[in-house]
This record gives sequence, C-alpha cells and structure tokens, in this order.
Amino acid sequence: MDINDLVRENIKNLKPYSTARDEFKGQASVFLDANENSYGSPLPANYNRYPDPLQLDLKDAISKIKGVPIENTFLGNGSDEAIDLLFRAFCNPGKDNVIVLPPTYGMYEVSANINDVEIRKVSLLPNFQLDMEKIAETIDQNTKLIFICSPNNPTGNSINREDIETILTNFKGLVVVDEAYINYARQKTFIQELTEYANLVILQTFSKAWGLAALRLGMAFSSRKVIDILNKIKPPYNINQATQDLAFEALKNISQVNDWIKESVAERQRLSDALIDLKIVTKVYPSDANFILVEVTNALQIYDTLVNQGIIVRDRSKVTLCEGCLRITVGTKEENDYLLNVLKNIS
Ligand SMILES: Cc1ncc(COP(=O)(O)O)c(C=O)c1O
Repeated sequence: MDINDLVRENIKNLKPYSTARDEFKGQASVFLDANENSYGSPLPANYNRYPDPLQLDLKDAISKIKGVPIENTFLGNGSDEAIDLLFRAFCNPGKDNVIVLPPTYGMYEVSANINDVEIRKVSLLPNFQLDMEKIAETIDQNTKLIFICSPNNPTGNSINREDIETILTNFKGLVVVDEAYINYARQKTFIQELTEYANLVILQTFSKAWGLAALRLGMAFSSRKVIDILNKIKPPYNINQATQDLAFEALKNISQVNDWIKESVAERQRLSDALIDLKIVTKVYPSDANFILVEVTNALQIYDTLVNQGIIVRDRSKVTLCEGCLRITVGTKEENDYLLNVLKNIS
C-alpha cells in the first residue's frame, strides 16, 4: 500500500512553515535570525532560544531504549497531539471516517469531532475483544484510521495479537495501536512489527510508566512516510525545551522506572485479590495496565463514599459494557491499603 494515497490533498500540497533553524544548518556564534532575546533568559539554561523542532538529541536517547530509528519516531505534546495530527493529515472532514472500538479511550472520538470526521463505533465483544466480523463490515473506501487501544482503557485487557495482525494485513488505511499502558502488560509491544506493516502507527507516552504526565510528551512510531507527514504538519516547536531537557534526563533513570513497573504490577495483583474478597465487589476484571476495572454493587454510592474520604476513582458505570464499574488506578501500597480500608467499611 502507498501511504501517499491516504494523505489529504491539501496536506500533500502543503508548503510547511520554515523555521529560522530550518533555513540555516552549520556552525555559527551569533544568532540574529529568530528575534529571540539575545541578552539571555531569567532561567539558567538556553531558554532564550527556540528549541530543536525535530528534537533530535531526545529522539536519539529514546531510540537507544526503544530500538526504533529516529526517522520512524514522532514526538508530540502528549500522544493526544499525535492523535489529532493523524486526523488532520489523513481524514477529509465531512467525507472520511474512522473506526473506534468502545469502550475505549475518549480522545479518539473527541479528536474526530473536532476535525468533523465521521466516527464509526464497533463495540468490543463482552469479553472485551474485537468483533472482527463487524469491523470488516464497517470499513468502506473512506475509512482512513482504526484505533486499537491495547491494553485498552478502561477495560484493562490486551487485545488479541492475531486480530490486530489480521487488521494490519487486510485494512487499507492506518491501524493506530495505542500502547499507552504497554509497560504494564504481559503482551509485547508491536514495535518489532513496524518494519513489516507500513500502515502501523504505534502510540506510546511518557505519561504513565515514565511518570512524566506533566511534561506532555507522547511518541508515535511508524513508517518513514507517516512520520514525515506528521512532522510536516505539526506546530514547529511542539515540544518545548524544558520538556526536551527533562525527558532527556529522565531517560537515564530507566532502572527506577522498571522498579516502579514491577511494584505497580505486584500491587495490581494484591489489590485485585483483596478487592474480589469485598462484599460490595461483584467482579474484578484482569488487567494488563496500571488500573483495574471493578464491578461493584452500587457504583454511584461507592464513588461518593470514596470522594468523601478523599479518594477519587473514575466512575465508568454508565459506559456500555462497563455498567456498574469503577476504574481504579493502582496506587502506592499505602494508598491501596487506605482505599481497601474505606471499601471494607461500606456495606
Ligand atoms: C489509552 C490512552 N492513550 C493516550 C493517553 C494520553 O496520553 P498523553 O498523556 O501522552 O496525551 C491516555 C491517557 O489517559 C490513554 O489512556
């Protein structure tokens, strides 16, 4: 398949914004080309200068950890930015459509609505796996993107690998596999499959296992053509210098991140085992993420009781297939103990 056939005509013809730093490459000591403050910045670092638009040093460091070449890596202001840019690059408003698989992460639908792109929903099966027949029936020649969240938010399960591979092989648009929670999963990432499928886009983020939600840094890995298009249409300096510097530092701390992942996974098991023993809990869904979907006897009342004790969880009880459920992020051991204690006292 040729990715160029999927790109919107106006994006194909777009002459992208050219930054001062795009126009000059080489060595120089006096930069009078970008109307920056030549005198300095109130902060110690080089914050008076615009950041590298392509974040090459940071991408190089990410590449060493992920094993994905720089030219197959896009960085966004959160993965939410990558999601929005995929719509803007590939979906003609009022004409094209995308497929989402609810219950799932809400931003796919919000981004579709912002971009005036038709959204086609194919519910997951009751076991939270893909309804392959329905998906096949729903695709038409204007379907540009399919969003598969694995592990899925809010259900917590990984999607069967063979099903994702079947879609990658047969679908003529882009398959976006959102791996925001992959570090907590038993299932392995699709990164190894990037060389096999030109239509695969993998989203990952620094907001979860890396503990950097405040920095707003998301990754998209894909074939060179898709990455080039995202880079062509992104705001020129979408990743600020502070984020680039701090993420670069954080990448040196991978052993700390791995320890947290191990601890979260152990706590996820302990919390799941303890929850299912409670009277008010009717079901605990297995999780491959850092949260657990829990069916309870009276979601609204339990939610309110938790709020009154200063504990906030996510009420998903009105979401199709999650009726009566709360989504609970795995906390620290102390937070989980406190949560369990409060829940034990609800009858
Ligand atoms: C499945 C999924 N994808 C993406 C995101 C957003 O990631 P980011 O913080 O990188 O925008 C979230 C956040 O909750 C998520 O659950």
